[in-house]
Amino acid sequence: MRKLEGKTVVVTGGGGGIGGATCRRFAAEGARVAVLDLSFEAALKVAGAIHENGGEALALRCDITNRAEVEAALAQTEAQLGPVDVLVNNAGWDVFRPFTKTEPAQWDKLIAINLTGALHMHHAVLPGMVERKRGRIVNIASDAARVGSSGEAVYAACKGGLVAFSKTIAREHARHGVTVNVVCPGPTDTALFADYKEGAGNPEKLLEAFQRSIPLGRIGQPDDLPGAIVFFASDDASYITGQVLSVSGGLTMAG
Ligand SMILES: NC(=O)c1ccc[n+]([C@@H]2O[C@H](COP(=O)([O-])OP(=O)(O)OC[C@H]3O[C@@H](n4cnc5c(N)ncnc54)[C@H](O)[C@@H]3O)[C@@H](O)[C@H]2O)c1
Repeated sequence: MRKLEGKTVVVTGGGGGIGGATCRRFAAEGARVAVLDLSFEAALKVAGAIHENGGEALALRCDITNRAEVEAALAQTEAQLGPVDVLVNNAGWDVFRPFTKTEPAQWDKLIAINLTGALHMHHAVLPGMVERKRGRIVNIASDAARVGSSGEAVYAACKGGLVAFSKTIAREHARHGVTVNVVCPGPTDTALFADYKEGAGNPEKLLEAFQRSIPLGRIGQPDDLPGAIVFFASDDASYITGQVLSVSGGLTMAG
């Protein structure tokens, strides 16, 4: 991909399945990567693997729902790796149950992590991007935002909100040289998907059903996602903003 070498990239939830694969791929492209995660151990593991391969990475514990932690993590990133060129909002969380069986306290947590957390990151990073007149933001939503997903009503609402928010920010900041695009994973083999399978009650049956309904015949692996994410962050995508791309083996084919 064009012009990622030497860029400073922040990935939230960088210690997780898709986040970790994304951090490793940016590092392989020559970028400096800030790995932000609620779990410092998970962030450290990803940063360690990048160092072992000769890349540059910084592990930071950061709860994206806490504005003070967001500000502190970004200040440390800028001090050690330089101004943020690319932001990937990837951290996410879900509970899997029918909407009527959920509690308002769970909605608050789902909204805080899947929507408000990304708003904090945008709000903290955008002024610098505007000043420098360049920036790339890639938001990780979900096919649940595009077509719904049983047992994930509030999560889907957050991801749908993230899509609408991304398009609006893309419009507000296009004239500042900042692009904002969205990648929607389908079912992907990570800790989050393992919880989903358990929540559905019959994990093996669910897996079989997904495999049957995904045109490319398998659920995703974390390494299926970074290609699209890195593309949107690169100069190859400099004339693309406000777009939504599903990476889900053809499960959804939005027009
Ligand atoms: N796996 C799937 O099937 C799937 C499908 C659609 C969308 N997604 C989305 O992909 C993204 C990555 O998920 P994943 O599947 O790799 O899951 P994962 O559980 O492997 O990774 C999520 C990471 O986010 C971190 N995180 C959670 N809350 C946080 C917070 N408050 N602050 C900072 N970090 C926090 C976790 O510690 C974890 O490392 C999420 O946004 C998820 O909603 C995943």
